[in-house]
Amino acid sequence: MKISQQLELIEDFSPRSRIVNVSSVPQRSPFRYPGGKTWLVPRIREWLQSLSWRPALFVEPFAGGAIASLTVAFEKLAEEVYMSELDAGVAAVWKTIFSRTGASWLARRIASYELDRVKCEEDLARRPTSVRELAFLTILRNRVSRGGIMAPGAGIIDYGEAGRGVHSRWYPQTLRKRIEAIWFHRKQITFEQRDAFEVLREFSHRADAAFFIDPPYTASQKRAGARLYKHFEVDHRTLFEIAARCKGDVLLTYDNAEEIVTLSKEFGFQTHPVSMKNNHHAEMKELLIGKNLSWCRASA
Ligand SMILES: C[S@@+](CC[C@H](N)C(=O)[O-])C[C@H]1O[C@@H](n2cnc3c(N)ncnc32)[C@H](O)[C@@H]1O
Repeated sequence: MKISQQLELIEDFSPRSRIVNVSSVPQRSPFRYPGGKTWLVPRIREWLQSLSWRPALFVEPFAGGAIASLTVAFEKLAEEVYMSELDAGVAAVWKTIFSRTGASWLARRIASYELDRVKCEEDLARRPTSVRELAFLTILRNRVSRGGIMAPGAGIIDYGEAGRGVHSRWYPQTLRKRIEAIWFHRKQITFEQRDAFEVLREFSHRADAAFFIDPPYTASQKRAGARLYKHFEVDHRTLFEIAARCKGDVLLTYDNAEEIVTLSKEFGFQTHPVSMKNNHHAEMKELLIGKNLSWCRASA
């Protein structure tokens, strides 16, 4: 590895660096999303506020739990928000919440569900017969599975927090309130179940757009994203190529690996490692990638 790359990888160990306390960030998503970016929310605000223009459009093509899109919509950091996701279950949740009567149905379905482990296992084994029911079962699976992982083969929480088992992360009233709050902002947000590449190509000409790109982390040798998502195969080189062609501003996130720094440089992007804490409270580095990260370096 070149010395400049090594320096970049250790830069964020400076005394000025800070780790975001996620409990200080409003939790707006009904998901506890594996690889979710709640910890990045303050940086996303800084990024958008550093632009000399207010984005007319915020695009999040790998939306998942969509904490970035929700933050942007709730805090009016852009005029409009467009988010897409390929996973059918995750997409069912967003489609239901943004449909005319879906949000209230989903909120009521969650609030009236009497959770117990046996019933939950039976329900999760059922084949849903409507988009709404798929949405409910996706939220249920997400809240009772280990690490929120919904990919095939993910197990259900056994002991959980203080021995609460499947109840550890099932907060019906909180979920109901989050769903209602998202529905309240529905006019600013468009969701479509689409391929991220197609979406990026469609909006790449928009100079007034800001793109937040958070793909499954499967480009480096670690391939951490491969066990987290059903859809994890991504052509990362093509993704960088399209991102580099986007006329608006772009922020990508990846794991902090040498391969990614090299790929970023090849497409003319700057990189900046930031500290975060993973689910096990261990400090880790992730990489921010963008056309101009001076806003980020100044606030490291
Ligand atoms: C790292 S996660 C996004 C997490 C999100 N930023 C959050 O904070 O919750 C990546 C997501 O991309 C989705 N995905 C994978 N390939 C995709 C594709 N080609 N188009 C759209 N979504 C895709 C996965 O299903 C997964 O939900």
